[in-house]
Amino acid sequence: MAFIHGFMIAASVVVGAAAPQQPAAPAGKEVCAGCHDTVVAQFDRSAHAAVVLKEGGTQVAGCEACHGNGAKHAEAGGGAGTIRSFKNLSSADEAQACLTCHRTGHAMEWAGGPHQMAGVSCLDCHTIHQSRTVIGKLTGVEGMAVSHATAPAARGSLSKPQVELCLGCHQQIRTKIMQQSRHPIREGRMTCSSCHDSHGAGIKGVKTTQRINDLCLSCHAQHQGPFVFEHAPVEESCMTCHDPHGAMANNMLKQNEPFLCLQCHEMHFHAARAGQTTPYLSPSAGLIANKGGATGFMQGYNTRCTNCHVKVHGSDLPSQGVTGKGKAFSR
Ligand code: HEC
Ligand code: HEC
Ligand code: HEC
Ligand code: HEC
Ligand code: HEC
Ligand code: HEC
Ligand code: HEC
Ligand code: HEC
Ligand code: HEC
Ligand code: HEC
Repeated sequence: MAFIHGFMIAASVVVGAAAPQQPAAPAGKEVCAGCHDTVVAQFDRSAHAAVVLKEGGTQVAGCEACHGNGAKHAEAGGGAGTIRSFKNLSSADEAQACLTCHRTGHAMEWAGGPHQMAGVSCLDCHTIHQSRTVIGKLTGVEGMAVSHATAPAARGSLSKPQVELCLGCHQQIRTKIMQQSRHPIREGRMTCSSCHDSHGAGIKGVKTTQRINDLCLSCHAQHQGPFVFEHAPVEESCMTCHDPHGAMANNMLKQNEPFLCLQCHEMHFHAARAGQTTPYLSPSAGLIANKGGATGFMQGYNTRCTNCHVKVHGSDLPSQGVTGKGKAFSR
């Protein structure tokens, strides 16, 4: 905040001279500019510069749409309690001031969402007086747009570039998005809000009203069913096998193959191996004699199951297996 010193003196003259009365009309931005010139200059470049609050029959433009009628405050030349300050408001009261206008759209879902429930406030993420564009180097100028008013932050008037903002509170996600297999967040091709609505009340703050799978399929349509041969866990949830934020294993798999698959399936062996006599386990036919005797070894398919089961997300083509069952996701 910056004040013109001369005006401060003039203001106290005003206070001393006349008995202050509460005027009915809002003071208007020009009056505020008299003492808060840098705030007003910055505000004029912000997204809210032209907002008008229509309540009942009255219309309030500019500063007072959020700070309330400031005529008394202006006349008194400042003073605690003469204007709505956001400093001492609770998260809920703060949000209320914003939701007066932002009642539609995403903000409507604010109530009951994870951030609202946790007492996170609009101002933990948004900086209202921030400029939309970078206007030169402004360091050292009090009250002006700060240097973090860069392009990524400018969208949505965020107080920091988005990913940095979110990771500030969600440390556990930081390590994940650094893994080698990940969504291109670090590359700047995606942000957290590609998948999350910070205001939403959806499951885990995810941008979908239905199932999380719908979110994934909105970008990965090639795995969208229905398939003739469906794989149950894929229909259930993509998150059964994938971590959306990143993983050590390729393809953002929570575990490497074959261990991923072996959580639910038994290992199986080469059915057509010649010379086997010790019994081997066929996934479809149970124990089968192995003609090779005790010295014969059974070859387990213990590498990448998807070398053969290439269509693990589901397939429309019947697999060509020895049993002829057709459901092995092999093509
Ligand atoms: C869209 C709502 C909104 C409008 C409109 C608005 N403000 Fe603010 N103002 C805020 C919020 C929120 C804060 C608290 C800042 C924070 O915590 O980031 C604030 C803080 C301030 C402060 C305290 C110092 C500071 O920067 O933290 C001053 C002074 C101020 N506003 C003046 C003004 C003036 C003058 C105008 C009109 C030119 C104006 N405001 C318009 C929401 C608004
Ligand atoms: C005559 C000078 C003067 C005018 C005109 C003026 N203010 Fe202020 N304002 C001050 C001073 C001085 C302070 C800081 C001292 C204080 O907290 O009382 C201040 C503080 C504020 C604060 C921060 C309060 C807090 O406790 O954080 C806001 C918000 C604010 N003014 C908004 C406005 C708005 C909006 C207008 C126009 C309607 C306006 N001011 C007009 C002098 C003025
Ligand atoms: C008087 C009505 C009004 C109030 C009160 C209000 N807003 Fe807004 N806000 C608007 C309008 C209208 C826009 C759209 C402006 C535009 O797109 O140019 C907007 C835009 C925004 C944006 C998008 C900015 C951008 O850079 O794209 C954010 C974020 C926002 N408001 C947050 C808030 C927060 C937080 C508060 C409470 C401190 C608040 N608003 C209070 C009317 C209001
Ligand atoms: C946890 C951080 C966070 C909180 C808390 C938060 N927002 Fe946002 N908001 C964002 C992000 C991130 C975006 C940008 C989304 C994008 O780029 O798609 C945004 C965008 C917006 C926008 C502009 C786009 C839109 O969806 O209309 C408005 C308006 C807005 N927020 C208002 C609010 C209000 C009002 C509150 C408090 C009730 C609030 N926000 C609380 C993170 C937050
Ligand atoms: C000021 C700290 C803060 C910031 C900034 C913040 N969050 Fe949060 N967030 C929380 C808290 C606290 C919770 C509720 C407790 C929890 O689940 O961790 C939460 C919950 C969530 C949840 C739901 C978690 C669950 O288990 O249901 C998601 C998703 C989320 N935040 C995403 C984001 C995104 C995306 C951003 C950036 C736009 C963001 N957060 C910014 C503090 C923050
Ligand atoms: C590709 C989509 C996607 C992106 C991008 C994404 N998330 Fe998530 N996030 C999800 C899904 C889906 C869940 C729910 C996971 C579950 O239910 O197992 C989730 C859950 C969360 C949770 C809840 C706790 C947890 O670990 O499950 C937090 C917090 C969170 N995300 C924060 C973030 C942050 C911060 C970013 C940006 C760095 C981000 N997310 C980017 C899809 C995404
Ligand atoms: C907004 C679009 C979008 C959404 C939503 C989305 N993804 Fe992605 N996904 C991408 C992009 C972009 C890539 C990177 C592709 C590339 O680099 O060619 C990717 C890559 C992947 C990869 C391959 C990673 C690798 O290591 O090659 C997997 C697995 C994946 N996503 C799973 C998911 C899952 C599961 C969800 C739902 C939680 C999801 N995605 C939601 C856009 C999205
Ligand atoms: C049963 C475990 C499993 C489930 C559940 C699963 N996947 Fe996969 N996914 C894999 C495996 C294994 C790979 C790597 C081998 C391959 O591509 O076949 C993979 C690779 C991917 C890839 C990167 C390669 C490509 O095809 O583009 C994407 C994207 C992907 N999965 C999206 C999804 C989506 C979306 C869902 C939910 C509809 C989902 N997955 C559910 C196991 C699974
Ligand atoms: C979370 C448990 C789970 C995981 C992990 C899993 N599957 Fe499955 N899979 C199933 C279920 C359940 C079925 C359906 C079984 C049925 O219909 O009798 C199935 C069916 C199959 C089938 C068709 C066989 C049949 O009898 O329908 C093949 C082949 C298969 N899975 C391969 C894989 C591969 C390869 C992986 C690892 C990439 C994998 N599965 C991971 C649970 C899982
Ligand atoms: C060398 C190729 C190959 C590898 C590697 C492989 N499989 Fe198979 N698997 C097959 C074939 C071929 C069938 C079909 C057998 C039939 O239908 O007669 C099959 C059948 C199955 C079935 C039962 C399908 C049915 O028809 O009942 C499951 C479940 C299965 N495999 C899981 C796995 C898992 C888990 C792995 C990794 C540990 C794996 N497979 C590795 C080739 C392979």
